[in-house]
Amino acid sequence: MPTFISPQQRKAWKALSTLPGATSTNLRTLLAEKDRQAKLQISAAGITLDYSHQRVNEDVMGHLLALAKESHVMEQALAMFQGKTINQTENRAVLHVALRGSHIQDPPWGSAISALIAAELLRVCLFAEKVRSGALAGFSQLPITDIVNLGIGGSDLGPRMTTSALVNQSQPPNGHPVKVHFVSNVDAWSLHNTLQNLNPAQTAFVVQSKSFTTQETMTLLASAKQWLMDGTCPKDQLHRHLIAVTASPDIALANGFKAEHLFEFWDWVGGRYSIWSAIGLPLAIAIGSYGFQELLAGARAMDEHFLDAPSEKNMPLLMALIGIWNTNFLGASTHLIAPYAAALNQFASFLQQMEMESNGKSTHIDGSSVAIQTAPLVWGSLGIDGQHAYFQLIHQGTHLVPIDFIGLREEHTPLPLAAEHHRVVMLNMQAQAQALAIGRTQEETLNVLLQSGLTAEEAKRLAPHRSFSGNIPSSSVWMDALTPRTLGALIALYEHKVFCQAAIWGIHAYDQWGVELGKTIAKEIESRP
Ligand code: F6P
Repeated sequence: MPTFISPQQRKAWKALSTLPGATSTNLRTLLAEKDRQAKLQISAAGITLDYSHQRVNEDVMGHLLALAKESHVMEQALAMFQGKTINQTENRAVLHVALRGSHIQDPPWGSAISALIAAELLRVCLFAEKVRSGALAGFSQLPITDIVNLGIGGSDLGPRMTTSALVNQSQPPNGHPVKVHFVSNVDAWSLHNTLQNLNPAQTAFVVQSKSFTTQETMTLLASAKQWLMDGTCPKDQLHRHLIAVTASPDIALANGFKAEHLFEFWDWVGGRYSIWSAIGLPLAIAIGSYGFQELLAGARAMDEHFLDAPSEKNMPLLMALIGIWNTNFLGASTHLIAPYAAALNQFASFLQQMEMESNGKSTHIDGSSVAIQTAPLVWGSLGIDGQHAYFQLIHQGTHLVPIDFIGLREEHTPLPLAAEHHRVVMLNMQAQAQALAIGRTQEETLNVLLQSGLTAEEAKRLAPHRSFSGNIPSSSVWMDALTPRTLGALIALYEHKVFCQAAIWGIHAYDQWGVELGKTIAKEIESRP
């Protein structure tokens, strides 16, 4: 095991720390550079990353790329794809990438794993089509029309986000409409709010839990069973309405699930990386098995780009390095995800778990404590709504908030004036990136106020309140259009970005020991007399 070198000891990190003027880069100056936007754009797998509005120049990018090289990021990536035990605190491989298949004939993880994955994917697709065709019947022999996903964290956020984004993109065969609902919270209101309008005879529950021990999900399962029986489902017919997706099949079988309604994934798939596995079943039911395989294909295309593209043109690596620049050198402690596509209304919540549960760590892989910032606070919501809620703070507050804007090149919503809606949305996304970068000085504001007819005295009084510092960095991530394939690529883009940052920070991204203490104390409290 080579001696661990903390990131701040690396030559490139030291160079970045002492680069004259690097942290005082000004976007007004940078954006005046000829062809900057064309130079700082990369396209792959239906995604385009425009990082021209980031506070980086050639020197900074050069040292960041050197940092990636010094940190052996791509060698570590290969180890992941080869199924090496990189999750060292749980002694597991990390092979969510295998779930979406490989562009390489002989995949690095080996044919045995590929065969295991293919067999389960086939079962998932066949079952999804069975439900969509109306062939899944409940205790009363009526077809199942409503699927309720019970799960939390990675057993909810991925299926919920992708289904929410793509559900309108597919029509069920023979017009059999199956609706997919999601309940994650153990608060009774959540389950009641969903079930109150459903018919037990035509409702089935997909119970998603890698461990099949999560208290919230198990409580929801018990409640769902009671609801079915209160709806006249005989106890020995409950299994018709229960589907399990888990890495703990024995526990599920002991809970009354039948083998034909049990779908497996494996311990080398982290919950927050599991949408590609049978955890994607609700999505496959919602959009069809073809759409689900398109999602996998999009991620596979991004995997190919990540493994094959040179570092200076490697989208996930560059996003990772820019994030490190903003967090560790410009001092930003948060990172805003602002989709300008309402279908991505769950994307920020999904990324919160992926980024903050992966890289919200303060211990290096060698057990030493970090002396640098690691994952920033990732937050966000739809950008258009954010403009009318919290963008004030970003423009004129005291926090530096780097932003990922996410937009669609094409809009396909079947509304007569969809093109006009899209024009307004895109106009705002571009205007915000520009306004945050360029700002407006007090002198410029004074002139604007004078030209608006204010007296010199009034303009002078108001100018400080109506000026903008600017120099706030952002990236624009463009999807050609919102399809299962481009959404798969987008998710994989962020997965690999998270990987690269962990590799450079020297932290473990695939365990989550931080969630254990709360659970332990809850059990202690529960056991008290
Ligand atoms: O407690 C955190 C966590 O373990 C997440 O990592 C996981 O996605 C979620 O809980 C749900 O776990 P399970 O799928 O085992 O129910």
